[in-house]
Amino acid sequence: MVDAGRPKVFVSRRIPDEGLDPVLAACDADVWADELPPPRDELLRRIAGCDGVLALLTDRVDDDFLDAAGPQLKVVANYAVGFDNIDVAACAARGVAVGNTPGVLTETTADLAFALLMASARRVAEGSRYVRDGSWKTWGPLLLLGPDVHGSTLGIVGFGRIGQAMAKRAHGFGMRILYHDVQEVPEEVAASFGATYLPLEKLLADSDYVSLHVNLSPVTRHLINTETLAWMKPTAVLINTSRGPVVDQAALAAALKDGTIWAAALDVTDPEPIPMDDPLVWLDNCLIVPHIASASRATRGKMAAMAAANLLAGVRGEPLPTPVVPG
Ligand code: DGY
Repeated sequence: MVDAGRPKVFVSRRIPDEGLDPVLAACDADVWADELPPPRDELLRRIAGCDGVLALLTDRVDDDFLDAAGPQLKVVANYAVGFDNIDVAACAARGVAVGNTPGVLTETTADLAFALLMASARRVAEGSRYVRDGSWKTWGPLLLLGPDVHGSTLGIVGFGRIGQAMAKRAHGFGMRILYHDVQEVPEEVAASFGATYLPLEKLLADSDYVSLHVNLSPVTRHLINTETLAWMKPTAVLINTSRGPVVDQAALAAALKDGTIWAAALDVTDPEPIPMDDPLVWLDNCLIVPHIASASRATRGKMAAMAAANLLAGVRGEPLPTPVVPG
């Protein structure tokens, strides 16, 4: 039943109870219950007249979205740390606050990035397929050989929270750690991981593993392309848990096929889901998982609680606990 005194909100997917419960308790909430995101026209229809929207990275928040919601919209709370789905400047121009979920998914995301690194080096997915398809006949001295992880060199592109959490894991494996970012971190921070700054070209040329942790921006779109892939070692492994468009996928497929690099492991693709006719899906040296880097039960619960806290603060006209500041 609609209660005129309660803020009207749209929640664009069922999120964990840690976030859903407080929203249901405080708002007149319309929750999209399907597994798939609301189709665009349905989304625009459902947000009309809302004071707040709890959005996912599958929802594009742009001028059309803001027009459809109406001038009473106060807040868009993204259920993600990344906010490349949101036109933050357009929101700011209309006084709509934007929130995200930084911090809580750092370690969980780095866990998956490191799992992808290990899995592609040691050919875990290929090994599993090999057993399942009945190919395992004996112990083989040359079976499914791969590079070592310990003692190798990891190049981290984007040395923010998640990049540094990746470095922490690599440090434990005795890896040499290189990093690249727009700005060097303070010396004591780099020293705490034993990490060395290098320009991108040099980092790509020196690394056995390259792990991407940049935000998606016009500068980072297709940062990994035919030219930059050619800088990498033919034995190198590329890991992407950042955003799909950071990698030019056609260039990556060509590089994996012709041996420019040895393997890749992707948590993110462009588009998502990756079409089944994309050659990357079928390459044995490409491991792809469906954007699950933050998908631990605890972390998804914390993200839900943070997104809900942003939504509730926004509809009450209070400062968001974790706002996205228009840059
Ligand atoms: C994010 O939060 O930006 C991730 O991509 C999904 O958890």
